[in-house]
Amino acid sequence: MGSKSETFTFEEVAKHNNKNDCWIIVNGKVYDVTPFLDDHPGGDESLLSATGKDATVDFEDVGHSDSAQETMAKYFVGEIDNTTLPAVIKNKPIHPSTQAPTISNESSGFFLKFLQYLVPLLILGFAFGLQYYGKENKSNES
Ligand code: HEM
Repeated sequence: MGSKSETFTFEEVAKHNNKNDCWIIVNGKVYDVTPFLDDHPGGDESLLSATGKDATVDFEDVGHSDSAQETMAKYFVGEIDNTTLPAVIKNKPIHPSTQAPTISNESSGFFLKFLQYLVPLLILGFAFGLQYYGKENKSNES
């Protein structure tokens, strides 16, 4: 027969966003997962919340098994016209904002480690200083 596959616009796919009609976009492909909603081990809610956007990142974040990806093929209905994908833009800010705290966490982690070493060293230095000062005082007395 050949590989005849329909191409949908994002808008068309996004309309299918409810329990009776649920389409998702993963890796540039469109899946009608309506019959799978009740059987999805991750629940129907996760599938419904993956509608109206490019769900590739959501799908991959779960780390779906190979068998999950085989099951997926059953629900394939067509390709997405990539030029119509505003969801890619919507998804973008999620990354810089999730990365930003990681960077600041890293730098504050570094600062804490630095303090962990610095504070005991300061205390040691202070103790030695006191000892030395005490000895000097004693030798001055005798
Ligand atoms: C046609 C598409 C999909 C199929 C066939 C599918 C199939 C499966 C299967 C078989 C599992 C069981 C674990 C595994 O074998 O990996 C699973 C778990 C799960 N899936 Fe999906 N899934 C699909 C799409 C999605 C999407 C778009 C999301 C959105 C976030 C999602 C979220 C989850 C979650 C949260 C779990 C539970 C993970 C856990 O509790 O360990 N799935 N899915």
